[in-house]
Amino acid sequence: MFFILTFARYLKIFVMSTISATMCAYTQREFIDMEENYGAHNYHPLPVVLERGEGALIWDTDGKQYFDFLSAYSAVNQGHCHPRIIKVLIEQAQKLTLTSRAFFNNRLGPYEKYITDFFGYDKVLPMNTGVEGGETAVKLARRWGYSVKGIAENQAEIVFAKGNFWGRTLAAISSSTDPSSFRGFGPFMPGYLLVPYNDLSALENIFKTHPNVAGFMFEPIQGEAGVVVPDSGYIAGIRALCNRYNVLMIADEVQTGLCRTGKMLACDHENVKPDILILGKALSGGALPVSAVLAKDEIMLTIRPGEHGSTYGGNPLACAVAMEALQILKDENLSKRSEELGKIFRDELKKNISGNNLVKQIRGKGLLNAIEINDTEESDTAWRLCLQLAGKGVLAKPTHGNIIRFAPPLVITETQLREATHIICETINSFRK
Ligand SMILES: Cc1ncc(COP(=O)(O)O)c(C=O)c1O
Repeated sequence: MFFILTFARYLKIFVMSTISATMCAYTQREFIDMEENYGAHNYHPLPVVLERGEGALIWDTDGKQYFDFLSAYSAVNQGHCHPRIIKVLIEQAQKLTLTSRAFFNNRLGPYEKYITDFFGYDKVLPMNTGVEGGETAVKLARRWGYSVKGIAENQAEIVFAKGNFWGRTLAAISSSTDPSSFRGFGPFMPGYLLVPYNDLSALENIFKTHPNVAGFMFEPIQGEAGVVVPDSGYIAGIRALCNRYNVLMIADEVQTGLCRTGKMLACDHENVKPDILILGKALSGGALPVSAVLAKDEIMLTIRPGEHGSTYGGNPLACAVAMEALQILKDENLSKRSEELGKIFRDELKKNISGNNLVKQIRGKGLLNAIEINDTEESDTAWRLCLQLAGKGVLAKPTHGNIIRFAPPLVITETQLREATHIICETINSFRK
């Protein structure tokens, strides 16, 4: 009997390892070719094929280890596969994943109470992706404009800052000033106005001359535009102008929020509370798409049953994961860590590469940083630099051609950060165009 059981166990191990060997039988080139042949060509990824992540580290299918300096565009602030998030994910997935909002579920209410207490708002509207959060905020602002501010029907306007990025839907690209986002996709959403970013007098001017403005939607630091950090006082200035002209201040903190810039929210740097707060990405720590829009009752209760929603928004799995992901930010004091490590990162870069004429500017806040390369947007210098960085074990990606964003998971240790920073400086200093 013992021998039969032992044989059966070994047989099982053999079969499992054969299956997993078959799964891994593809080379990185073959994985890349499959994406190229069967997937839409709407991305241009760096040629590495990743299969495992833990904390700030990530491994490719050949077992090569990298420091992740993108964090899935700041979605994995809590680190890859945070054990507490994965535990909650598995436990909840085994009980109940989706009910739709046709019924109540035992996870949504507690999550709504938790997140509104956490950020100090009356109500939350749960969605899935960041762009849905932005879309929700625009709808809320328009509705508030009509039912509270008294704007005439269909006349509401929303102001955006030039260089904004909030996703890829038609509503989002209608506010974009980047031709690669909007070109060839018109006609666009009416009722949008644009002002230069970081320009309070232009903002005041548009508020003065456009009485139908319901909201101003902005990023406290423009992430996709290349980590554009506004002058200090800009966020507080927006708050003052929105108060003066009765306009909703809508902060898109999908990328800057949740400790990324060294505070829980980037607006906290100027002690400012927006009227509408949009969160996404790290709200699930990278486990699944979870976004949220927070506002006070006067704004949120303008939307009535049947007027907005999403099948997956507020699903029990997302609620359980988001609660844990937020609690981890607090328990692990990730805002302080982001602030301290970000300072070390920028200091080391400034010390070692600011004299290099390849480097135009080093900028950022907390662990959201960028190096602007001294070359045109059309050049491939930043791309080739990122290829070399990947070869040496650091993953980063250019944005807007000549800017490289550096945004590691906030759980990165100081030793890991210093090691990766050393690789970045060494690569830049030995780079030949
Ligand atoms: C500031 C900001 N808002 C919204 C979005 C859209 O988020 P998602 O890709 O989850 O729709 C992004 C994505 O990068 C972003 O950076």
